[in-house]
Formats: sequence, structure tokens, C-alpha cells
Amino acid sequence: MAEPLFLLFGMLLCGLLLHIMSQHGATVNKSSKKPNFIIILADDIGWGDLDVNQPKAKTNNTPYLNLMAEQGLRLTDFHSPASTCSPSRAAILTGRYGLRNGVTHNFAVDSVAGLPLSEVTLPQLLQKAGYYTGMIGKWHLGHNGPYRPTNRGFNYYLGIPYSNDMGCTDIPGYNLPQCFPCGRYGLEVFRLKKNVHKGCYSKVGLPLIENSSIVEQPLDLWTLTEQYKSAAIRIIHNAREQGKPYLLYLALSHMHVPLAPPLPSDLPSSTYHSDDVNVYISSLQEMDNLVGAVKVASDDTDKDNTLIWFTGDNGPWEQKCQYAGNVGPFIGKWQTSRGGGSAKQTTWEGGHRVPTIAYWPGRVPANTTSSALLSGMDIFPTLLSLAGVIPPSDRHYDGIDATNTLLHGEQNGHEFLFHPNSGAAGTFGDVQTVRTGKHKAFYITGAAEACGGSTGRQQLHDPPLIFDLNYDKSEETPLDVRSPEYQAVAERISRQREKLLWDIATDKSVSTADYSKNKAAAPCCDPKQAVCRCHMQG
Ligand SMILES: *[C@@H]1O[C@H](CO)[C@@H](O)[C@H](O)[C@H]1NC(C)=O
Ligand SMILES: *[C@@H]1O[C@H](CO)[C@@H](O)[C@H](O)[C@H]1NC(C)=O
Ligand SMILES: *[C@@H]1O[C@H](CO)[C@@H](O)[C@H](O)[C@H]1NC(C)=O
Repeated sequence: MAEPLFLLFGMLLCGLLLHIMSQHGATVNKSSKKPNFIIILADDIGWGDLDVNQPKAKTNNTPYLNLMAEQGLRLTDFHSPASTCSPSRAAILTGRYGLRNGVTHNFAVDSVAGLPLSEVTLPQLLQKAGYYTGMIGKWHLGHNGPYRPTNRGFNYYLGIPYSNDMGCTDIPGYNLPQCFPCGRYGLEVFRLKKNVHKGCYSKVGLPLIENSSIVEQPLDLWTLTEQYKSAAIRIIHNAREQGKPYLLYLALSHMHVPLAPPLPSDLPSSTYHSDDVNVYISSLQEMDNLVGAVKVASDDTDKDNTLIWFTGDNGPWEQKCQYAGNVGPFIGKWQTSRGGGSAKQTTWEGGHRVPTIAYWPGRVPANTTSSALLSGMDIFPTLLSLAGVIPPSDRHYDGIDATNTLLHGEQNGHEFLFHPNSGAAGTFGDVQTVRTGKHKAFYITGAAEACGGSTGRQQLHDPPLIFDLNYDKSEETPLDVRSPEYQAVAERISRQREKLLWDIATDKSVSTADYSKNKAAAPCCDPKQAVCRCHMQG
């Protein structure tokens, strides 16, 4: 009876099953799809610059990052692998300490080489695994020939070769663009080229590089943020259109001097300097805005398949005073009371504890924090693990796979984390400080300049100074050397330090960076052109 009805029922059931199956298929595809990665690396940012790291301060400078933290995981005990630029970036991209990858201090404008070519980089491995890899921003790992980003694993590059205060700037190391009142050189060039931005000369002699060509020089700091933003959004959309998973490494100029926040449009430029503290805050807000735009672009395209990892390359550049960031409670009192800085270039907490957020809707639990002891070196093994890529086994790595901390609330981090000397010449890269649990031991102190110009005397410590960070965040009072607590920790730390040094000494894949210089190695579209300002005018 009613055969047609039966048939109809069968068809319906079949359709339903197909529907369920196709839905199921999509789910399977989704989870086996390789995730996208966005690494956002801020420059010289302070742990305390992130509002949510210091709720009591009741600041509202980083609303987009606060939101990202509320929708993701805030890592409160996360450390840049070094306390200065090139070594930190090299360690992030290789998962190895500077003593292994060879990069122990900064490259210069006229450096011939960069990150040793024997090193294998994260983008290189992801690119090989089918990723589209794009980089925007400051590279600082070599700007010539084979050392360029596009030869180290990136499909695309737009950015500046080193820090925004380096190279052909009018006044090297300056803090603000030369607005009115201009410095001598700024005024001269201002008259020469009539390059006006709201009455200011806003360009620096740096080259902006796309892939391997200079596309702008001098560079306009006021348009750089917009250029980075639109390039980042373009990369996210293009990768999506190509149907490829992608890595976007966005290495911001913020918060490194010179700071060039938007000028209040109705303000005569001569008043620009009158409220200097606001310059840093305006820049911070500008950076936060940029991060927000990247997050929105990512949310609009492949939201539940994209991990955004925000962190910093080292702590604030304290000698820049009101143009430097906020270290929060990590003020390094032992050092500051003896003169000298305790942030960037040092291994006091302010030098390497950086604001860090991992955001991945649906995968990283929302509104959570973790105090696992982690490092920028962990980005390398973690992203590779999430992408299902196994790094070459012919070398030793120092980063750990933090997948379970990110996705499953596990609290295990490094049992021992070593902080390299990033400030005292002669011993660059050496294990200066060792962290284990709540304890931190110093073998060397000193070296960085404080706001005001004083520099602490460089000192070796044998036995080491040991602080209890749970109880003494400002690193003020070391433990009594005779206490049983000190004895036990010192013994463990010393053994582990020896172990690491031995491991490095016997690591056959240790690289050596070539730090030689040559004037011709400075990138410049035309050294004879005044506008390039590779040579100071006047
Ligand atoms: C799912 O994966 C299979 C095999 O990898 C592929 O052929 C198919 O096109 C994918 N489906 C979707 C909707 O992406
Ligand atoms: C940069 O390189 C990529 C990859 O080779 C290429 O698609 C793109 O067109 C290049 N861009 C420029 C401006 O040369
Ligand atoms: C996030 O957590 C905090 C503190 O645990 C809580 O006050 C806040 O309401 C939470 N926010 C959301 C969006 O759940």
C-alpha cells in the first residue's frame, strides 16, 4: 500500500541524512583545517600599558586589547625572549636562545648581515606547509640580500628594516617628529622640500620597504599606521580569497620613539609639545586602534579559525622618560635605588615581562588569565604544533609547546626560564638571570640608562641575588644568602644553568651572526639625494 508515500518518506529521510552528513562533513573539515595565525608584536611596550593588567589604575587607553582579553586569555607571566630588539625577534622566529641562533645584540643600519642563514624560521616552516606568510613592520634581522624577510620565509613584506629612530633620521635617537619648533636639520629640510604636515615636517629618513624594494624614503610617520593597517587587512582578505591558511606577523612601530600620534586637528602645531605625557597615551590609543582593526578584519573573515597572539619585544625604554611605557608593579627597585634603569636592556622584570593576550574564539577560553611562566620563544613550537608541522630535528629548541595552556587552561610553563644579557657590552646574550617558579636569580646587574641619565654600575654576583617575585614584585630585597630557602633555590638554579650552558656548548647547530658593518650596506634609494638624508644635511 501507499508505495509513493513510502518513497516520499524515504526521500525525505535520505535528504535529512544527507543534510546531517554534509553538516557533519563541514564540521570535520573545519577542525582539520589548518588555523590562521596573527602575531602582533608591539615595540618597547610596558606590561602596565595594558589597562586590564592594572585595573586599579582605571585607565582606558587600550579598549580593543581589553576586549580581546575579555574574549580570550591574558598571560600575566609572559616574557620576551630578550630585553632588546633583534635578539628578541630572532628568538621568537627560531624558538631558540640567542646563544644558539647567534643574535645576541642589535643589528645596525650598516650591518652587512642578519639572522644567520643556518637558522630555520617559523614563516619558512609554515610556508613549506602551505601557508601564505605575510609580514608587516619592523624586521631588524638583516636588510641585505638573503637576510631580507622575503628570503626568510615571507611571501610578502611591507615595513621598515630596523627601529624607527635609526638610520637617516634628522636627529638620531630623537623622541618626536620634528614639529615646530623644529630642530635645525628639520627646519632646513622643511624649507628644502616644503613637505608640510599640519605645519610640521613629519618625515624620517627611513626607507619603507615592500618585498625587497624601497617604496618610500623618507618615510612619513603619520601615514605609516594607516599603511600598516590597510596592508594587514589586505593580507587577511587575500589569504582568505586564496583559500590558504595564513601567518601574519605584524611588528608594530608603536611604542618605540619617535612617537607620532595623530595631531589634534584644531591645535596649532606649536602647542604639540606642551603636554608631553599625552603623546605617549595618544600613541598607545593609536596602537590599540590598529590592533582593533586587525581583530575586526579577522573576525569578519575566519573568526573561529584564527589565533591572534599579541605581545611585546621587550619592556619600555626608560631613558626616554615621558615617552616610555609603564612597567606596572615591576619597577626593579634594587637597581633603581643604585642608579640605572630597570626596564628595556635589563633583565629586571620591567625589561622582559610583556603584556600578552591569546585570542581565538571558540578555542581559547574567553575571559581567562594564566600565570604560566611562558616566553616569546614558545610561539614557534606552539604555532607549529597547532599547524601540525614538525620542526627539523637537527637542532635544539628552547621554546615549549604552550597549546595546552592556551586551549585547555593548563598552568604548566617553563620550569626554568633564562633571560639573556641585553645591555652590557662584552657579555651580550650570556645567561644573566634565571627564573624558576616564584624565584629569580641575578648573576649580572646594571648597564641600562635611567630617565635622568644615571646608569647603574655593572656588577657580577657570586653568589647570585635571588628575589621572591610572589612577595616582592618590585625586586627590592634579595633573599638572605644563609636562609634555607636561598640555599635550596641557588643549588637548583646553578645546576640548571650549568646544564643549559653544557647543552649549548654541545649543540652542533649553534649559529654565529656576522655583525660586521659597511657604510654601503645602509639601505637608501639614492644616497646623493638630500631627501633620502642618508647623510646629515648642513
Ligand atoms: C572537505 O575536505 C575534503 C577532503 O579534504 C574536500 O574534498 C572537500 O572539498 C572539503 N569540503 C569543504 C566544504 O571544504
Ligand atoms: C611582493 O611579492 C609577492 C610574492 O612574490 C607578489 O605577489 C607581490 O606582487 C609583490 N609586491 C610587490 C609590490 O612587488
Ligand atoms: C570576565 O571576568 C570578570 C572577572 O572574573 C567578570 O567581572 C566579567 O563580568 C567577565 N566578563 C564577561 C564578559 O564575562
